[in-house]
Amino acid sequence: MTDTDPRFSKILHDHREIKTAAKRIGAQIDRDYAGKTPILVVVLKGAVMWAGDLFRNISIDVEMDFIDIASYHGGIASSNEITLRTDLTSDVKDRDVIIVEDIVDTGLSLRYLESLLSRRGARSVKTATMLNKQKGHKVDIRADYVGFEIDNEFVAGYGLDYQEIWRNLPFIGVVNPDIYS
Ligand code: IMP
Repeated sequence: MTDTDPRFSKILHDHREIKTAAKRIGAQIDRDYAGKTPILVVVLKGAVMWAGDLFRNISIDVEMDFIDIASYHGGIASSNEITLRTDLTSDVKDRDVIIVEDIVDTGLSLRYLESLLSRRGARSVKTATMLNKQKGHKVDIRADYVGFEIDNEFVAGYGLDYQEIWRNLPFIGVVNPDIYS
């Protein structure tokens, strides 16, 4: 646990560092999409805070839409199945889409979303994730814009939940294992 907050064993990134990462990626998106109007597809609910920071740091014309997916974890991790809970309102055909994720862990959600958007005729599909757990990947997938690389630990805060709470915290921390063990 940290000196100040027993819920977390470690604080990884505070509000200021996250905003700096959003600024860096916003500038990259401005350059990479100059002359285009991409759609940010924000994955509910975890990516909402990060998407707000990123959105504020993009200067080119950009749209925003939301999608909600659910992963059903079977008895063994590899049987994970993703379903669509709330769909986009935008038509992505011939559009440049940037998926905005909170974290890429196994990569199954991202693979599902990439294939869904490609099937619907998106011209290009890229991903801007706040966090990437490279060691958690179970499929060969790569996020194009990454705020921070993190170890394979369970984190919460800044949109990410522990049992639906702590999304409102202004930092990302490693959840104290004593809490869920
Ligand atoms: P993936 O499909 O395993 O890549 O993970 C997708 C979703 O699982 C993320 O968008 C998060 O909502 C959730 N998730 C994965 N790792 C964590 C974590 O460490 N803390 C909280 N949520 C997580």
